[in-house]
Amino acid sequence: MSDPLKRVAIVGSGNWGSTIAKIIGNNIVKFNTFENEVRMYVYEEMVDGRKLTEIINEEHENTKYLPGHKFTPNIVAYADVVETVKDADILLFILPHQFVERTCNAIKSHVKPGAFAVSFSKGFYVGKDNTVELLSTAITRLLEIPCYVVMGANIASEVASGTFCEATVGARNYEHGQMVKGLLQTEEFRIVIKPDTEVIEVLGALKNIVAVAAGFSDGLGYGDNTKAAVIRLGLKEMVKFCEEFFPGHHPHIFLESCGVADLVTTCYGGRNRKVAAAFVKTGKDIKTLEAEMLNGQKLQGPDAAAEVKEWLKEKGQANKFPLFTAVHDICERRIEPTALIDALRYHPEFW
Ligand SMILES: NC(=O)c1ccc[n+]([C@@H]2O[C@H](COP(=O)([O-])OP(=O)(O)OC[C@H]3O[C@@H](n4cnc5c(N)ncnc54)[C@H](O)[C@@H]3O)[C@@H](O)[C@H]2O)c1
Repeated sequence: MSDPLKRVAIVGSGNWGSTIAKIIGNNIVKFNTFENEVRMYVYEEMVDGRKLTEIINEEHENTKYLPGHKFTPNIVAYADVVETVKDADILLFILPHQFVERTCNAIKSHVKPGAFAVSFSKGFYVGKDNTVELLSTAITRLLEIPCYVVMGANIASEVASGTFCEATVGARNYEHGQMVKGLLQTEEFRIVIKPDTEVIEVLGALKNIVAVAAGFSDGLGYGDNTKAAVIRLGLKEMVKFCEEFFPGHHPHIFLESCGVADLVTTCYGGRNRKVAAAFVKTGKDIKTLEAEMLNGQKLQGPDAAAEVKEWLKEKGQANKFPLFTAVHDICERRIEPTALIDALRYHPEFW
């Protein structure tokens, strides 16, 4: 008797979640190992007087978070997260990281034995006592299942449009890694599997902090040379963070899509850079700009900067990461945006 078909569930339906749903809806029918139907958890909201789940199931489009792109009809929207994950063998977490814990708590007694998770979210998990942990570690702890990661230079709207790009899957389990690759890879979206799961995830979170710094630099009116310095010194801090706290990874991991490529993309495109530039130019606070500029989408960089500051404080290492800590202090208005340039000028790199 052949193995039962595996069921995939997508937890999240924002800009990236909807993009991944578009890809998987097309890809999954090519395999005879997966159920064709893919349930997608949609945080319910009204859009133009209609429920978003209703719009997605009737029009096969997420008109709020990924307008202009059609899903295949096998993508089915559910407002109930427990119904979404019930019987699923593979749970793809594509939520803004702020919502991961409460979502895991809601589903934890409904996860199928033998299931595994994949996190596409960029950020850290902060516990009630301010302890900071990787999201994949938190998902594994809360759901008691393995959790792999997918990171890369992927601005969702470009991926959805099918322009060429690549991503990195972090998985030490070969069979599971291949399944994730099979679900995601297309001619235009190429996937590399690497075993350095923790570092791959950390890079995805840290690059958003550097993108905020790049946005400050743009907002202050600096040019490409300064931004290149932000990117280089930011990358140095990213590498140092990984070496200090996640030793043992392959040094070439920084050359994968999850490393330098994602960093460059985010420092030129992406919402963190855009909002940070507006923060400097308008004098408005981050939350106000997020609400005004992003149509319900969430920012990751300022939160990641706060989480990393907490992490570094706990380890007594904040002074070794002046760019990361300056970004947080600027977001909190403890220092002026121009102090970013001091963080570059007096960086330990030049001592
Ligand atoms: N958008 C991208 O280009 C991109 C690319 C790669 C990775 N990512 C990562 O993917 C993750 C998801 O980002 P996104 O772009 O899909 O989301 P998004 O910012 O586009 O959308 C926000 C989502 O959060 C949902 N939401 C709002 N309140 C909620 C609540 N209380 N509980 C649960 N959900 C709630 C909204 O319904 C919406 O689906 C993030 O960690 C992001 O860093 C995004």
